[in-house]
Amino acid sequence: MRIHFEKTILFFLLSTHVSALPALRPKAIHLPLHHVKSSKFTKRGTTIPLIEDIDLSELAVKASIGTPAQEFMLIFDTGSADTWIPSTECLPVDGCPTFLKHFNQSESSTYQELQQDFIITYGIGSAKGTYFKDTISVGGGETKIEGQIMASVTNAVGPISEQEASSDVDQIILDGILGAGLSDGTSRFLQGKGEKYDPFPISLYKAGQIPNPVFSVSMTNDGGKLVLGDIDTEAITDKFVYTSLVDMNRWSVNVQGFQFHDHQNEEASRNFKFNIETPFGVDTGSNFMYLPRALANDLALSITMNGTFTLNENGVYTIDCQFQSSLDSINIYFKSSIDQSLVNINLPVSQLITKKSDDQCLLLFIPSDDKFIIGNMVLRDFVTVFDFGDIPRIGFAPSKTSLSITGE
Ligand SMILES: *[C@@H]1O[C@H](CO)[C@@H](O)[C@H](O)[C@H]1NC(C)=O
Ligand SMILES: *[C@@H]1O[C@H](CO)[C@@H](O)[C@H](O)[C@H]1NC(C)=O
Repeated sequence: MRIHFEKTILFFLLSTHVSALPALRPKAIHLPLHHVKSSKFTKRGTTIPLIEDIDLSELAVKASIGTPAQEFMLIFDTGSADTWIPSTECLPVDGCPTFLKHFNQSESSTYQELQQDFIITYGIGSAKGTYFKDTISVGGGETKIEGQIMASVTNAVGPISEQEASSDVDQIILDGILGAGLSDGTSRFLQGKGEKYDPFPISLYKAGQIPNPVFSVSMTNDGGKLVLGDIDTEAITDKFVYTSLVDMNRWSVNVQGFQFHDHQNEEASRNFKFNIETPFGVDTGSNFMYLPRALANDLALSITMNGTFTLNENGVYTIDCQFQSSLDSINIYFKSSIDQSLVNINLPVSQLITKKSDDQCLLLFIPSDDKFIIGNMVLRDFVTVFDFGDIPRIGFAPSKTSLSITGE
């Protein structure tokens, strides 16, 4: 006992001495997320020309690749796991307009060839190229990973290729994608063509560059914030509800059901409970919410009080704009990963309706037959935590700019 005691004192003295040095525990990284208006919106499954001139946007983050650094603006996408940028070999006919930044591997002294094909499909959008390893950094170069696996793309189809340069000097061009998915969701692994590897946020944690195995995303009207390694608690108004991941391939959670909550008449509230497991991707790279067809239809009926709505040629519901002032709300139910109780997040109906320039109003959810997604139009009301720790889970808390949340 006595010896142990002395050791403790010695250790204490040593550690007091050591603490004069800079703390070894890394700090979380706070990065701005840029809202970049998308000229087209991508539904996973099809790209729909944006006849709907509503304000759809992608969230983008600045990253530097290579030595010396070459800078890119990348879509921050929790719906995919590979990070890619256009190669100098990718020409406009290959889907890389000249105004995109192109990565010149010959100019990077830290570039390492991998000789492995990269192919990814985002619905009809896709990218093809080659995997490589190089240094990637964010936040002005202080936070970096050496030897991060990424892909250099020689052929691209989809919203990045379809951008048009405007005369606006402030226009932000999206050059590629930062895949913030999970290691098991990296393309070469999913396709059985190679080993899984760690996407950038996970690499940061494993390299001891961030303090916790999490990142959180919050959005505001003029942009948003990405916190790597911690939870953005300053942006929330209530506690987080957490629910476990369905599997390790992607950021997706089981939704137990939806409730249309009638603010005037509790009895008129309607519950839509799923009888089978219904996973929803939680995807910062998608705009809309994609719901099972029958549910989407029932919600559209409830919102319009059995009134008229039409599914237009783009597969989007058009409704009367009077419902923009609705005080009703929609609850989405999950099983809490903490105690398995039912918890929910709450979305005011008014937030799910947007007005087009021709005075028509649209619902921000779209009926779908197979893939269900909670996209960034919904996530903008929350601070969303993506936790890749021992028990992988996703957490939602109402953001200061919006809304309420309740646990039951
Ligand atoms: C890439 O960099 C090399 C070395 O600096 C240069 O010779 C080449 O012209 C560059 N390629 C392009 C397409 O800019
Ligand atoms: C809508 O129609 C359903 C089924 O006919 C009915 O139960 C419900 O009360 C109606 N709701 C409203 C708001 O009229």
